[in-house]
Amino acid sequence: MSPVSPLSPAVSRTDRRPAVPRWWRDAVIYQVYVRSFADSDGDGVGDLPGIRARLPYLAGLGVDAVWLTPFYSSPQADGGYDVADYRAVDPLFGTLDDAAQLIAAAHEVGIRVIVDVVPNHTSDEHAWFRAALAGGPERDLYHFRQGRGENGELPPNDWESVFGGPAWTRTRDGSWYLHLFAPQQPDLNWDAPAVHAEFDSILRFWLDMGVDGFRVDVAHGMVKAAGMPDIGAREQAKMIGTQILPFFDQDEVHAIHREWRRLLDSYGGRHGRERIGVAEAWAPTPERLALYVRPDELHQAFNFQFLSCPWEPAAMRRVIDSSLAATGSVGAPTTWVLSNHDVVRHLTRYGADDYAGGLRRARAAALLMLALPGSVYLYQGEELGLPEVRDLPDGVRQDPSFFRTDGQDGLRDGCRVPIPWDGELPPYGFGSGGSWLPQPDDWRNLTVAAQTGDDGSTLELYRRALAVRRELPGLGDGEMEWLPSADGVLDFVRPGFRCVLNAGPEPVELPTPGRLLATSADLRTDGTAPHGDLGADGPTTTLPADTCTWWAIGRTAR
Ligand code: GLC
Ligand code: MG
Repeated sequence: MSPVSPLSPAVSRTDRRPAVPRWWRDAVIYQVYVRSFADSDGDGVGDLPGIRARLPYLAGLGVDAVWLTPFYSSPQADGGYDVADYRAVDPLFGTLDDAAQLIAAAHEVGIRVIVDVVPNHTSDEHAWFRAALAGGPERDLYHFRQGRGENGELPPNDWESVFGGPAWTRTRDGSWYLHLFAPQQPDLNWDAPAVHAEFDSILRFWLDMGVDGFRVDVAHGMVKAAGMPDIGAREQAKMIGTQILPFFDQDEVHAIHREWRRLLDSYGGRHGRERIGVAEAWAPTPERLALYVRPDELHQAFNFQFLSCPWEPAAMRRVIDSSLAATGSVGAPTTWVLSNHDVVRHLTRYGADDYAGGLRRARAAALLMLALPGSVYLYQGEELGLPEVRDLPDGVRQDPSFFRTDGQDGLRDGCRVPIPWDGELPPYGFGSGGSWLPQPDDWRNLTVAAQTGDDGSTLELYRRALAVRRELPGLGDGEMEWLPSADGVLDFVRPGFRCVLNAGPEPVELPTPGRLLATSADLRTDGTAPHGDLGADGPTTTLPADTCTWWAIGRTAR
């Protein structure tokens, strides 16, 4: 999204930007949860042709890239994160040809495509695992062990699955296999050269089809500590992201990412277009997370510290500073993310049962996030102000997860409810045949159609913010500087730009900083918009509680 052409004479030799603009460093990347985005064939499940038909929406929103969640052949034990064939599209979502057409059509409208790759585990219906269960040499590609206890009736160690229960399941021959997630997701053994070779080939398959990169699922999990030592504590899922476990964030995992980076770079060179890897990695500190984005590893890692941060200005500022410092120390851009398909939507996290209050904060948070240096990940539906659906009947839930984090109900279906496009009633234009999870009957005002053209809508706020981000050269990758501010206020400048967030409960009055570019809520301005230096007696603006504002300042103020 660099506004400066690499050939432009304005770029001096001392400019540290590489000759090829590094599109991913400040890209806004939109996560499409494929089964819930748009359904083309009326089976109630979103699919690849559905996404293709909605590309004009994504182009109009102004995103640089999409990340598509897994659409590969899968028994769907974990929403497709259990892959049976990495080179095939599940009939639920379309065909390989649909995938190729979607990629090409996205490129035509200037949107890059990132696909998910799931290297930590396969489905139990993958050909390798079936052969392994039948006693073939493929057993070495997974982690089979004898159990403990007199007759091997106890799991080989005390590791727990992220989804709850032991991380081991016993097979008919009496041995056990490791699965850090559901029993239908056996972990691969990355000590086996055949596993490396197979993923090398899978990545090439999709790169040859034209994808611009991969979101690497469980990028911190592929290597297990030698000897698979006991942890000696229960509730291990709660330790993820706060300490190093023998199955997560082992130092040796980085060798795999280096291998992948070499492969990605070889494609970038050949086609003159950088292909990227983004790590879904849970690391205990920003510094350990930054190891995944060293210059010879992946390009980006999701910033889960930002996602998990409560609505507390001081804590938010700490997370912003520590994220920037950590990624900056290895020369990588930071990413910012508030929601994804695994967590309660941020509107609901911030607002609990108060929709209006949650929306207010969610809108402010979006402007904050989009003003920070680096790349931003949006999760489908946040631009519509969708809340978590908390009253799904148990009978329709499909998530195998019982992974609990604070503020989460332990099940991940509530953030995966299909998108409302238009109309007054479910399925609101999602498709012609209902939706795999029921949508609430009060979403008629949240549809894309209802919000389009309404200046006060959340959709128009996102459209405006993304448009401003594209227009202002200083808003992508680059410097930011904090300004002194009152309690509850975050105030910083970027080149030609200032962002002021009042995240406190009381209104805050400040000298009007410049020309208003965007605001998450109505403001009160006294006096006229300034054109020059502002004295203490100049016009003032009052920011109500939970409001974020963007201002053009200095040279770019018109
Ligand atoms: C990642 C995915 C999640 C999935 C898990 C196992 O965390 O985001 O949805 O359940 O990996 O593949
Ligand atoms: Mg469908």
